[in-house]
Amino acid sequence: MPISTMSDFDLKGKRILIREDFNVPLKHGVITSDLRIRAALPTIKEALKKNGKVMLMSHLGRPATSGYDEAFSLAPVAQRLSKLLKMDVPLIQHWIDGVNMGESQVVLLENVRFQHGETDNNVELAKKIASLCDIFVMDAFATSHRAESSTCGAIKYAKQACAGPLLLSELEALSKIMENPAHPVVAIVGGSKVSTKLSLLNSLVKKVDALIIGGGIANTFLAAEGYTVGKSLYEPDLLDEAERLTIEAKQRKAEVPLPIDVVVAERLSEDSESYVRLVSQIDDKEKIFDMGPDTIKLFVSIIKKAKTILWNGPIGAFEIEEFSNGTQAIAKAIAESKAFKVAGGGDTLAAIEKYHLESKIDYISTGGGAFLNVLEGKKLPVIAALEERATVKQEKVS
Ligand code: 3PG
Repeated sequence: MPISTMSDFDLKGKRILIREDFNVPLKHGVITSDLRIRAALPTIKEALKKNGKVMLMSHLGRPATSGYDEAFSLAPVAQRLSKLLKMDVPLIQHWIDGVNMGESQVVLLENVRFQHGETDNNVELAKKIASLCDIFVMDAFATSHRAESSTCGAIKYAKQACAGPLLLSELEALSKIMENPAHPVVAIVGGSKVSTKLSLLNSLVKKVDALIIGGGIANTFLAAEGYTVGKSLYEPDLLDEAERLTIEAKQRKAEVPLPIDVVVAERLSEDSESYVRLVSQIDDKEKIFDMGPDTIKLFVSIIKKAKTILWNGPIGAFEIEEFSNGTQAIAKAIAESKAFKVAGGGDTLAAIEKYHLESKIDYISTGGGAFLNVLEGKKLPVIAALEERATVKQEKVS
């Protein structure tokens, strides 16, 4: 169903409220990845160029109660935005009753989750948020799996509501992967637990030509094949699921290559002794923390044949140098491939940034949960709200 977009509207002199996802990782108050902020810049610049009065809204983290809490303040984001936009972006603490603004000005509204009712999609709060603006632009793809007052609620009650360019470009890249991808399609799924990726694996196994499984997830698949995985994290209650997924892939003639060798240690630490072991030779006391050299070669050879690549999740404990070879080699192979390449998920982005490969991936999604939901074939509540809104006449704004 069609949805209205920001370019459908005349923004000049209008109060434009743009919902972004500035939920960025912070360490001791310092932003460790500003990818989500940089991804929003084209939308903000376009609204400014068209002489809108631009208000930016976002959540940050999950504050336990409503009300101000410095630990969840968007102050570091306001600073980073000011630097990237080369203009002052003030952080507005008290915005709920309205913000006074001039044309081509931009402000950031303090964390919307400080408002009571935000995560419950409270109607009164949604109406208040909606009344701040003439046009509400939903651009936060990464929050579009959340029906909250500042997402679905504001879309419903704003005088005019539409999707922003970032949200649209994310949907476009993901539909290219999901709807009509060039084959062979190779998906690389890592991470620690099958349980958190089960719906994703179920969806991908029906579409891909090869499903490369790494990280802790691979342990459950190895255990399902009868290997002893020592003290490695695995999920005994999902052995049947792992087996079923492998059979389903085989019936479609899709590959699910399992590790041949792995890197093991007794502890996940910089100073622990590590060994390369065949998967049939893992000791009872050992844990798998990375893929071994032969496995890496196998995975890289499959990636090289791909015309479409989807990557979600590191394949080893790459934050520790000793266990980073697998993820680094996979990241490099993906970057060097001529395939259409899409990556997403917090840890995946951290790996891409660590190895400076951002410019070599065709599309890096800002979404974590939202990215997975789309790949799982789920309808995002925000998209449903935008579609519904497009069927309702937009109010005329003078
Ligand atoms: C995310 O990081 O996935 C989004 O910002 C959503 O955050 P949430 O899981 O706290 O709703």
